[in-house]
Amino acid sequence: MSKKLSLAVLLSGNGTNFQAIIDSIENGRLKAAIKIVISNNKDAFGLNRAKKHNIKNLCLNHKDFKNRKSYDQKLKELINQESVDFIILAGFMRILGSEFVKNFPNKIINIHPSLLPKYPGLNTHKKVIKNKDKEHGVTVHLVDEGLDSGPIIGYIKIKVNDNEKENDLINKIHKIEHFIYPEILSELQEGKISIVDNKIIIDDVYHKDGKEYFI
Ligand code: GAR
Repeated sequence: MSKKLSLAVLLSGNGTNFQAIIDSIENGRLKAAIKIVISNNKDAFGLNRAKKHNIKNLCLNHKDFKNRKSYDQKLKELINQESVDFIILAGFMRILGSEFVKNFPNKIINIHPSLLPKYPGLNTHKKVIKNKDKEHGVTVHLVDEGLDSGPIIGYIKIKVNDNEKENDLINKIHKIEHFIYPEILSELQEGKISIVDNKIIIDDVYHKDGKEYFI
């Protein structure tokens, strides 16, 4: 794909990953346009980031819907109006229902702060410390109906030092997230990565378990 990518970004919080994507677009590395940003949380700071950069944004609060299906239906309508290439989850803390996921095959991408399939869900850093893991990392993956699951596109590992504090890990993880997410999007735009039938092809090689990236 050599044309500019059109993206929708879904987020629930601070939006530092969203900011890293904006920065990569602004510095010319990532050739993309963010068509819409949607948050399920009206107080998400990510919405302020969108406003600051004149990106269309709105809050779609799940509490205003009677169930997941009706929420996902509205989300689908809003995204379909933008006809995007990819739906980027950047700290979007909701599971997407199977109908929604089936509607956008090969198109929904998530970043998660662990070496998936280890530690889906919350508190990944705490779990790493509690289990005295020697390594930790981030994973970028295609989204399926599960929690933080789906074919892995890429990941970065970091070493965990003895007595490492949660805050140190959070900072290290954010740093690598802010590198790998724009990098993978750029490689998708350049055609270096392609996604066919839920399979990840990087430089013409099928990566069953994703590709390791280095910062
Ligand atoms: C990031 O660490 C991202 O990996 C995580 O939420 C954080 C959002 O930070 N996502 C998940 O845990 C998905 N299950 P941000 O709002 O500063 O980008």
